[in-house]
This record gives sequence, structure tokens and C-alpha cells, in this order.
Amino acid sequence: MTLPIGVLVSGSGSNLQSIIDRIGEGTLDAEVRVVISNKSGAYGLERAAQAGIPTRVLQHGDYSSREEFDADMVSVLRDHGVKAVVMAGFMRIITPVFLNAFPERVINIHPALLPSFPGVDGQGDAAEYGVRIAGCTVHFVDEKMDHGPVVIQAAVPAQAGESREELAERILKMEHRILPQAVQWLAEDRITVKGRHVHVEEKGRKEAAQEKDFPSLVNPALEEGF
Ligand code: GRF
Repeated sequence: MTLPIGVLVSGSGSNLQSIIDRIGEGTLDAEVRVVISNKSGAYGLERAAQAGIPTRVLQHGDYSSREEFDADMVSVLRDHGVKAVVMAGFMRIITPVFLNAFPERVINIHPALLPSFPGVDGQGDAAEYGVRIAGCTVHFVDEKMDHGPVVIQAAVPAQAGESREELAERILKMEHRILPQAVQWLAEDRITVKGRHVHVEEKGRKEAAQEKDFPSLVNPALEEGF
């Protein structure tokens, strides 16, 4: 089943691009129905336009409350028949107004191994701290920043003498792999959430073998001996 998704961006949109590219390759059963940004200058809007995807700019400063802003985003998403939402570098905390409209269907990508290094500069904070294993996380969104149940994580070993920019670049590359993977699991309706625990339903052996190609990927499904 092709999952109709909406993508929220605030910046460059390289994660959005990874989704667009996977859909273009025919390896992601989703359709980006609309891209919303709270920043009119976000390059992610340009990427969407180049891919022929409708875009909307909703400037949060034009609203008297977060709830009002979220309500408008929800109506735009509903107008485009969206069933699941991907926050791909969207730098706003969302409210129950939004979460209740898409229960267990809002995911976010974060450039660190949550719960470590939440916030706007996860990869920089990890580099600053001097971790040996950095990484990235896709999680369900709740009312707290970078807090919801983890869907998938990938570890990115830090290299000695590497700058924070170089580490961030390698983390971003891995983000572009795990975010489409999480969307694919949503499209296949293989995800169940119990409290803070996310379970990814087993697939046939063949697919499981394919998924095994993902190096250094830590997720519930693989830990079950796939
Ligand atoms: C990514 O590193 C994402 O994890 C973080 O913001 C960055 C957005 O990058 N939340 P892009 O706009 O997708 O290139």
C-alpha cells in the first residue's frame, strides 16, 4: 500500500531528498503529498518543487499560539490526504493538537543516539563531548523535544581527529538511510508501539536477509536474530 505522507522541514531538506529519491527508485512505498515549512527560505521547499510536490509555508510567528499553528498544519495535511507525518529537520515542538490528529503516525529524525544529546545540535554536542560512538535516531514524536519511542537507530563510530563537521556529514549520510527505512515500515504497517517500546513486525526470511545488509544498524527487529 502506498502511504500518503506529509513532510515538515525548516532547512536544507536533505532528509526529505532521501525520501524523494527512494520513492523515485521504487524502493519506498510512500507518496509525499505535501511539504510544509515554517521558514519561507528553506531549501527543502526548492527540493519539493523540483520533484513536483506541493508546498506550503506557514510562519509560526503569524500565529498567536502553537496550537493555532498546529491546527493550520493539520488542516493543510488533511487537505492533501496525508496519513503519516515525517519531521525532517523541522525545528518546532508540536502540541497535542497535532499529535492527536495523527496518533502514532508522526516521526522525527535526530542526529544523535537518543536519549543522549537531544536538542538543536545533537551531532555537535556529541562531537564536543568526545564520544566514540555517535549516530542518529528516528523516533515517534510526543510533546517533549526528541523524546518519543525509538523506531530505529544507527551507530556512527567517531574517527580520531575528525572535525564536528566531518562527523556531522557522516551522521547525515546514515540519517538518509534510516529515515526512509522507518517510513517503509510505517507503509508496511509493521510497527506497533507499547509504551516506550516499538516493535517491528517480522517479515518473510527474504526481506529479513535484505535488511541485514544494513551495517551497524541497531533496531528491535534485527536484535531478534535476523
Ligand atoms: C538533520 O541532521 C536532522 O537530524 C536534524 O536537522 C537536520 C536537518 O537536515 N533534526 P536536512 O534539512 O534534512 O538536510
